[in-house]
Amino acid sequence: MTRLVVVSNRVADLSKGSQSGGLAVAVGDALQERGGLWFGWDGNVTAQSRRLPANVHKDGPVTTVTLPLTQKDYKEYYLGFSNSMLWPILHYRLDLARFNKGDLKGYRRVNSKFADALRPFLKPDDVIWVHDYHLIPLAAELRQRGLPHKIGFFLHIPFPPPDVLAAAPEYEWLLRTLFSYDLVGFQTHADVANFERHVLAQGGEVMADGQVTAFGRTIMVRRFPIGIDVDAFAEMAVTREAREEIGRLKRHQPAGSHIIGVDRLDYSKGLPDRLRAFERLLELYPENHRRVSFLQVAPPTREDVEAYADIRLELEGLAGAINGRFGEYDWTPLQYIHRNVPRSTLAALFRGSQVGLVTPLRDGMNLVAKEFVAAQDEADPGALVLSRFAGAAEELQEALVVNPYDVDEVAAAMQTAITMPVEERRNRHAALLRRIRQYDAKSWQDDFLKVLDAVPTGPAA
Ligand code: G6P
Repeated sequence: MTRLVVVSNRVADLSKGSQSGGLAVAVGDALQERGGLWFGWDGNVTAQSRRLPANVHKDGPVTTVTLPLTQKDYKEYYLGFSNSMLWPILHYRLDLARFNKGDLKGYRRVNSKFADALRPFLKPDDVIWVHDYHLIPLAAELRQRGLPHKIGFFLHIPFPPPDVLAAAPEYEWLLRTLFSYDLVGFQTHADVANFERHVLAQGGEVMADGQVTAFGRTIMVRRFPIGIDVDAFAEMAVTREAREEIGRLKRHQPAGSHIIGVDRLDYSKGLPDRLRAFERLLELYPENHRRVSFLQVAPPTREDVEAYADIRLELEGLAGAINGRFGEYDWTPLQYIHRNVPRSTLAALFRGSQVGLVTPLRDGMNLVAKEFVAAQDEADPGALVLSRFAGAAEELQEALVVNPYDVDEVAAAMQTAITMPVEERRNRHAALLRRIRQYDAKSWQDDFLKVLDAVPTGPAA
């Protein structure tokens, strides 16, 4: 078997059990399973501007090769172009996008540095799999260095239609660089359809078998909806420690129904709207007073980006207001945790909850939705309330699918979930479980690599 080389901005510490963000979880699982090399940023920012040697670390079957970013790279490439320009635009938030010419230069520079640093580690037969929006031009950089390898790219976040993406400066250049890959994967049918619209708008051609031609090169484009390791997550939810955690949850919050949400504190996750929907639930259905509690776990993320600091303040204000308005000395309706929580604890909390609330305004896939399903007790499962704008909604049709902008609709869905008869909960859960098993983390990885293996590599663009 050819060796797999994964490249992503963030390389997870495989020895730690808490990884926030779907990419780290899914890629970590895929590499542990197959073995290979994982290359990317080590998460550190150095004051040194000269190039430092890469850190090489062997962890079981996986070798990680990581580099720090300089202050300038961190500011321009990570905080700037990746997270203040591409992230908001690809999540349809043009209002939050901030453009700066220096950031674009930094983005190009770091992709070029990554290509230089990766090159000495590559063997002739390696298959390279690049992940996410930080590294769109990486294949073009590798091709410029004459590397003939099979290179695939997977975008973990949404891909918007031409009218939205066109707000990104140099978006045509970004599109063109995608054609240096042999295979480009997206999460959903909607993302693939959007990509095809771009191609047609560029005068390119879309063929029925997923081949797409533009900028003088033909590549394969397909949907690969990312999944989870269902059994591994389900097992975490039934350990002795998990049972103890569930017992503690019930003792400290004796409310009848527990609602849970887990998301990085990111504006794309729709957290203020979600809190408002919970407030509406308490307003519209007062029978829930003292009987329902909502736990929102929202670990900090990208705090050096202004829009993230703003959302934190907004959320803290809202959480305080809801508890002030409805709380009693012996009932705290809303608990808000702004810290990282180990995945094993999350698995237990999911199992101990009656409602999973996953209501992003826009999300590539959202693995929390799948993890909530995996963690449930099949005999008495909780119900999932899911945003129609999460990629997961294309698959998880048996959830209560909602418009996350409509707080009354979300409140009504929460009420339906809380009062849903056990028979209906079991039926919906069984169907959801089938779906997440049908295409899990392993199918995602195998499917992508199988298609990548099969595509012919064409001349470099
Ligand atoms: C999302 C992105 C990942 C990213 C993760 C955490 O899942 O798709 O690429 O790694 O968020 O964000 P961070 O900026 O901390 O890496």
